[in-house]
Amino acid sequence: MVRPKTVFVCQQCGAQHAKWLGRCTDCSAWESVVEETRRSTAPAAGSRTSLAIGAAGGGVPQRLGDIVQQSLERTHTGLEELDRVLGGGIVPGSVTLLGGDPGIGKSTIALQIGGTLAAAGRCILYVSGEESPEQVKLRADRLGTGHDVIALPETCLEEILAQADRINPALLIIDSIQTVHSRELTSAAGSVAQVRECAASLTTHAKATRRSTLLIGHVTREGAIAGPRVLEHVVDTVLYFEGDPGSGLRLLRGVKNRFGPTNEVGVFEMGENGLSDVANPSEILLAERPRGVPGSAVLPTVDGTRPLLVEVQALASRSVLAMPRRTTLGLDSNRTAVLSAIADRRAGLRLFEHDLFVSVAGGIRVQEPAADLAIVAAIVSSARDTPVPQDAVFFGEVGLAGEVRAVRHAETRLKEAAKLGFGRAFLPEITARRVEPPPGLLLIPVASVLALCSLLGEVG
Ligand SMILES: Nc1ncnc2c1ncn2[C@@H]1O[C@H](COP(=O)(O)OP(=O)(O)OP(=O)(O)O)[C@@H](O)[C@H]1O
Ligand SMILES: [Mg+2]
Repeated sequence: MVRPKTVFVCQQCGAQHAKWLGRCTDCSAWESVVEETRRSTAPAAGSRTSLAIGAAGGGVPQRLGDIVQQSLERTHTGLEELDRVLGGGIVPGSVTLLGGDPGIGKSTIALQIGGTLAAAGRCILYVSGEESPEQVKLRADRLGTGHDVIALPETCLEEILAQADRINPALLIIDSIQTVHSRELTSAAGSVAQVRECAASLTTHAKATRRSTLLIGHVTREGAIAGPRVLEHVVDTVLYFEGDPGSGLRLLRGVKNRFGPTNEVGVFEMGENGLSDVANPSEILLAERPRGVPGSAVLPTVDGTRPLLVEVQALASRSVLAMPRRTTLGLDSNRTAVLSAIADRRAGLRLFEHDLFVSVAGGIRVQEPAADLAIVAAIVSSARDTPVPQDAVFFGEVGLAGEVRAVRHAETRLKEAAKLGFGRAFLPEITARRVEPPPGLLLIPVASVLALCSLLGEVG
């Protein structure tokens, strides 16, 4: 067997070093040197090479039409929302990375999937590096599923692969990839080199054996899955779990999928018995909306292809600071600052005298420009201390000149608003001309922020 050689490679310039350095001596980049394994001779066909991933078939060139397609039969997970995000279920031999904040429910969903598949007679291996088998059993008791799942408390990659070869599971769950370490590397578990090497080995293993693998990954403070970005390139599917830990609602977002659509969103509710599908998230998100209160506007947002009605809230309060505060939750802070400046300039709201707080209720994150009009409506409503019409929704992008621009998925947004009983939709003028409103929904075209302010004054 060829022993791997450990080298230290700069991720910026590719220079190799004999030992780890805090700063690359070639390109002077800080903290860019990462440990990697290299084999000293060319590996035999089909054998694992460090960071060589995928199911390479011995390097034989083949005509695509001659390739016999292996079955892509998907396994249903028992959670419809998850199946939808995955593109219909788990594909054999696929590697899925599931990331999310601490306590969001990653282990819960993994055990639920394992429980459903085990109940259908499949062999499931749950490798737990963070919790003891007793802790996993306690969760299984609470969820009422997963008792047929085989738990393995192990963090050594080589041992995990050996056990997987012995047990031959249909699904291998690794909770979490940051706890796994390879004996071939000297760096600590959770380091960039370890996470990358272990994920690459597990992926190669999954492709070679056609065992589906679910890797659970922690999320850093900045919101990225801890470890190098290469982790996302290595795996087939990347899912992010998000939501406010205080509320029961959880969103599962597919940010990469080699076997299905990306940007698809699944909505779940976390309860004592685990996660359950939510078919009508808009209703739950709007359930606690205050009635007749200034600073609240409803936005029909579209996540992937999924419409969601969310409440944008703004609070403008007189500031005692020389530089008034601008705080946002669930929205892009720069964009919100620009929108408040536009509202200030175009509608003369004197926001420079106010602290401004803008958020999306329910722990939902909204990134799309279509949210602009709802944000401006909420700000205007709070600054004027006048509620917007209770049965109105708002969507449209706002430009720096105060103009309201068209956005995508107008019909989907309007349909969802009509379904939830809304009677009025404030939308870009050009979109209003193009779309057919659903029955019962009145379209109110808005050309500019100034027009919005006068419309709100008239219809409020
Ligand atoms: N008895 C309970 N009743 C209701 N919900 C519970 C109960 N126990 C745990 N939970 C929910 O489960 C969540 C923890 O789930 P889980 O352990 O799957 O999260 P995780 O993402 O794996 O966390 P970590 O990052 O710590 O591994 C809690 O935040 C809570 O919402
Ligand atoms: Mg966990």
